[in-house]
Amino acid sequence: MESPKPRLVSGVKPTGRIHVGNYFGAIRQFIAMQDDYEAFVFLPNLHALTENVLTKDELIEHTHNAVLDYLGAGLDPEKVIFFKQSDVPAHANLAWIFDCLVTVPYLMRAHAYKDAEAKGKEVTAGTFTYPVLMAADILLYDAAMVPVGADQKQHVEYARDIAQKFNFQYGELFSLPEPLIQETTGVVPGTDGRKMSKSYNNTIPLFGTDEEITKAVMSIVTDSRERNEEKNPDELVIYQIHQLFNDSEELKRQYAQGLGYGDAKKLLIQDIIAFVTPMRERRAHYEQNPKLVQQILVTGAMKANDIAMKKIFDVYEAVGLTQ
Ligand code: AMP
Ligand code: TRP
Repeated sequence: MESPKPRLVSGVKPTGRIHVGNYFGAIRQFIAMQDDYEAFVFLPNLHALTENVLTKDELIEHTHNAVLDYLGAGLDPEKVIFFKQSDVPAHANLAWIFDCLVTVPYLMRAHAYKDAEAKGKEVTAGTFTYPVLMAADILLYDAAMVPVGADQKQHVEYARDIAQKFNFQYGELFSLPEPLIQETTGVVPGTDGRKMSKSYNNTIPLFGTDEEITKAVMSIVTDSRERNEEKNPDELVIYQIHQLFNDSEELKRQYAQGLGYGDAKKLLIQDIIAFVTPMRERRAHYEQNPKLVQQILVTGAMKANDIAMKKIFDVYEAVGLTQ
């Protein structure tokens, strides 16, 4: 018999419009994992509430866009259990049980809380207990692996600590998750040669229109071709971006032989558009079929609830809440 795939749990925060740097730096690897793991992927909309600058409409819109972006980028709802955190009440139920296990001084050591405090922000209880809800997200499904960015490593350690504390007090119920720190495949440069980042205004949007993609590509920094004819293509910002979309030897040779920037940009625009077209079509297909998207999320929530309810029952039983 085939051995079961290890479980993976991840919350994908809606971060606004995704760009080529996000895609090649993180999303692509993330989506590739759906084949090797039994994956639970959810939109942490309860966590998003801790950013109390969000209005109701913004939260709805961000969540909706994130669902479309991930489906468009290739997350396969047939392979992955994809759902909204708020559709599975056991996350919040389990977080409460954990709230009653952890101490205030322990939570005060969390980076996110310390940063908010240091900035003089008025910290809500939600922000303070953010790591506890995240531990519940992970432990509810007995996740073996949690793919996260390096900044989230501490949160996975909190989940491990909380699992151990619970197991010690009430009996072995939770397995200990491992963080899977996503190594960025190198930094994707933006149009100005610095790291591609929203805050530098140097992005190429993954789901941009042809015009937006063309505009971004036309603004890629270039230097004088005469001085650079002998340059290794790997040193050119435009080639660093271009090879993500087309890594053929032929293209590299063309660059090495002094392909002019005007021609290079034309080719790059074509290559990006060819690359994103299937994703864009997939995204549009989902966008035009809100019922289908809803169906995906409902199915995901049903599957997640099925597993989560059993676990929360075991927890309630272990703690003494069922009788
Ligand atoms: P951010 O929206 O900046 O928090 O980034 C979300 C994810 O995309 C993180 O896991 C980053 O590692 C990745 N990422 C963002 N910008 C880049 C970039 N220019 N190159 C590589 N990875 C990136
Ligand atoms: N805190 C994570 C972030 O900021 C999002 C998240 C919430 C998450 N719950 C999770 C990630 C559970 C992995 C597992 O990106």
